[in-house]
Amino acid sequence: MDVKQQPFGQTKDGTVVDLFTLSNDNGLEIKISNYGGTIVSVLAPDTQGNLADVVLGFEDLAGYLQPHPYFGALVGRFANRIAGGKFTLQGVEYTLARNNGQNHLHGGLKGFDKAIWQAEAVPGEVEVGLKLTHVSPDGDEGYPGKLRATVLYTLNIDNELKIHYTATTDRTTVVNLTNHAYFNLAGAGAGDILEHEVMLNADVFTPIDETLIPTGELRSVSGTPLDFSELTPIGARINQEDEQLRLAGGYDHNFVVNGPAGTVRLAARVHEPVTGRVMEVYTTAPGTQFYSGNFLDGTITGKAGAVYHKRTGFCLETQHFPDSPNKPEFPTTVLEPGDEYRQTTIYKFLTR
Ligand code: BGC
Repeated sequence: MDVKQQPFGQTKDGTVVDLFTLSNDNGLEIKISNYGGTIVSVLAPDTQGNLADVVLGFEDLAGYLQPHPYFGALVGRFANRIAGGKFTLQGVEYTLARNNGQNHLHGGLKGFDKAIWQAEAVPGEVEVGLKLTHVSPDGDEGYPGKLRATVLYTLNIDNELKIHYTATTDRTTVVNLTNHAYFNLAGAGAGDILEHEVMLNADVFTPIDETLIPTGELRSVSGTPLDFSELTPIGARINQEDEQLRLAGGYDHNFVVNGPAGTVRLAARVHEPVTGRVMEVYTTAPGTQFYSGNFLDGTITGKAGAVYHKRTGFCLETQHFPDSPNKPEFPTTVLEPGDEYRQTTIYKFLTR
C-alpha cells in the first residue's frame, strides 16, 4: 500500500494544487487531486491483469480548469438539481445560482468541484488514504451557514475505493455531497458504454419533469426501461420510445436504493463484457443518480487525445434525492448545528 504526493499544477491565481496517488499490491492505482477533490484516474486490472484507466478526465490541471461536466469531481453543497434555484428553510427563502436553465445544479457556479481542498495524505498498512477538508462560508452560492466538509478517500487491498463524507454547520442548512466520476470499464476513450451491463438494486425511482426535477412521486421500475434488477446492457432499451428516457435523453434518473439508508448496502453492479472488469457500488445514501453521459457531445478532448462523445461514460452518483429541499416527502437533507452529515460510498473493482 502506498500514498504519494506530487505537484499537479497551478490555478490561475497561482495556487499550487497537488496530485495524490493511492496504490495497492493488486496494481490498482488511483490519482486524486485536491482541486475539486477530483478523481483524475483509476487504473484497474482486467481478467488478464491488464491495467486501463477507467475514468474520464484530463492529463493535466489545465484540463480541469476549463468548463467540463464535473469529471471525477466532488459535488457540493448540493448534488443534482434544486428547482428554480430556491428553497425555504425555517420560513426564510434562499436563492441560489441558476446554472441549469431555471434550476440550480451541483452546488452552483463555483461549487465544491472548483474548490481547492486542504489535503493530507494518510499512510497505512491495510489501507491508504487522502483526507480533504473544505470550509464553505456562510452565504456561499446562496446557502445558509458556514459548512465544514471533510472527504476521506481510502483504498484497501480488496480494491475498494471508499469515500467517506462528513459535514457540520453553524446554522441550519441543507447538504448533499457526492462524487461525479464518469466510468468506462473498457477504458476511458474506448468508445461508448452501451454494452456495459448494469444491475441497480432499486425497486423504485423518482420520476422527473421535463427540466429533470422530481415530481415527488416514487414509482416502480417494473415493466419500464428503468428496470435494472438483473444485469442488463445499458444500450438494450436506451433508444426505446419511452417518456422517461425522452425527458432525460437517456438514463439520468435517481434510483431509490433498496434497504435502509444510513447503512452500507449494494447500490449497483456494472460488468464490461469484453475486459471482464466489474465495478460494484455500495452506499449509505438513499439514492443513486444513474447518468449515461447523454450530454457528452464530442466537444471535449480528454486523456490521450480521446474525444468524449455522447454516452462514452456513465456515472453512479450516490446521493439524496434531487430537489429534496423542496420535497418534504423525501428523506431530509437538512443539517442542524451540532449534528453531523455522514455519507459513505464504496466503489469496488473486480473482474469476472
Ligand atoms: C445530472 C445530469 C447532468 C450531469 C452533468 C448529472 O448528475 O443528472 O443531468 O447533465 O450531471 O452535469
